[in-house]
Amino acid sequence: MTRNAQRGQFVTLEGIDGAGKSTHAAWLVEALRARGLTVVATREPGGTRIGEALRELLLRQPMAHDTEALLMFAARREHVLQVIEPALARGDLVLCDRYTDATWAYQGGGHRVSKSLIADLERHVHAGCNPDLTLLFDVPSSVSRDRLERMRALGRDLDKFELEDAGFFDRVRDAYLERAAADPSRFRVIDGGRPLAEVRAELARIVSAL
Ligand SMILES: Nc1ncnc2c1ncn2[C@@H]1O[C@H](COP(=O)(O)OP(=O)(O)O)[C@@H](O)[C@H]1O
Ligand SMILES: [Mg+2]
Repeated sequence: MTRNAQRGQFVTLEGIDGAGKSTHAAWLVEALRARGLTVVATREPGGTRIGEALRELLLRQPMAHDTEALLMFAARREHVLQVIEPALARGDLVLCDRYTDATWAYQGGGHRVSKSLIADLERHVHAGCNPDLTLLFDVPSSVSRDRLERMRALGRDLDKFELEDAGFFDRVRDAYLERAAADPSRFRVIDGGRPLAEVRAELARIVSAL
């Protein structure tokens, strides 16, 4: 007997650098698999051969801010076509570390790229492929800076975005919070400044609803 798989759920993780996305992504994947869900964990920019190659350029090379937006969406187009849409069509849960909210926040808010350019690219690249749920890990830029400096002290070199100043991260954070306020049914804003166990307890409650 064949049956059509129900479309899967699309969950994205957002927040400024150091907010805890990658840390919690690893935990979330395990928690979701333990619930019997088939999880495709992926990230942006990246997730495909072309996307990962563009990630290297985006995170290392200086470029015009609108070039940055164009390349982010080029990487995203491959990601949507090759990974995200096929997984959702199979009925899998897609857990993606950053998606288009990050472009609105970093390129739009942080670098002041025109909103109409971002809106046009968004429409072209993934009209109809939008997250069902977005977990926004929220921390002040001072917390982000402390965590990034600690990582740097441990020998991890920081990328182009991680080296931006507090003003940039304040604008990125504000842009994220504005988007969350405009779409409260999709976003959960999670205070990422609390101890890990407390953040996890909140995530566990959210996961149990998926
Ligand atoms: N709630 C937390 N309390 C303390 N340290 C944290 C917390 N969340 C994340 N960290 C630490 O902060 C650093 C950045 O976290 P990471 O998950 O890489 O952030 P992101 O992926 O959002 O940039 C890591 O060293 C991580 O262990
Ligand atoms: Mg990360």
